[in-house]
Amino acid sequence: MKGHLLWNAAQVIAIYLEDNVDDLVKSKTVLELGAGAGLPSLVCAVLGASKVVVTDYPDIDLIQNLQYNIDHCDALSSKSSIVAEGFLWGNSIAPLRSHLSSDDGFDLLILADILFNHSEHAKLVRTVKEALKPNSNARALVFFTPYRPWLLQNDLNFFNLAKDAGLAVEKVLERVMDKVMFEKDRGDELLRRTVFGYEVSLKQE
Ligand SMILES: C[S@@+](CC[C@H](N)C(=O)[O-])C[C@H]1O[C@@H](n2cnc3c(N)ncnc32)[C@H](O)[C@@H]1O
Repeated sequence: MKGHLLWNAAQVIAIYLEDNVDDLVKSKTVLELGAGAGLPSLVCAVLGASKVVVTDYPDIDLIQNLQYNIDHCDALSSKSSIVAEGFLWGNSIAPLRSHLSSDDGFDLLILADILFNHSEHAKLVRTVKEALKPNSNARALVFFTPYRPWLLQNDLNFFNLAKDAGLAVEKVLERVMDKVMFEKDRGDELLRRTVFGYEVSLKQE
């Protein structure tokens, strides 16, 4: 897997997907936001998702890197189930939905280690609401590590905004990694090793 770091949340989501493959992945449509190297999306494509749209900031190098990882993923026999696209959070998702055979949204969204960008939370909430398929099984996996632990409450504020927007929020996991990602960083070491996992879904009437 080339380029850019693989952050904690992407690794933990990849395992979570493997553990819940029938519920979350098999024959599902998947959209990943801020994907970096795109590991969770590749895992979904390998494990039988019907379509995976893997996105990052619309920068040519980032998207070419995602494409490189798709092209060089030996475990992926057919590349046609996964497509890399540039996507800025909060923008219209119409171009992303055009990859789906039906126009009613995605079964699974993946947000791995992207809550650090507090100023973009409202846009992320808007995208989650717009992109989720309106059925009770569709959900967004929002996993993150507070790499700046003193800003944990700001990270968590994403979930307050999500609730305010009418979404349901459930904490599903807390996992302590063996090592911190950035040894020289400051702040509580245990928090900097912890991945918090949440599922966010549309509330059913
Ligand atoms: C910390 S990295 C996480 C990468 C990957 N999800 C992982 O867990 O390994 C954050 C990612 O968010 C992307 N990003 C930041 N702001 C963005 C925005 N406004 N729109 C789209 N992507 C953005 C960055 O390009 C980067 O790939």
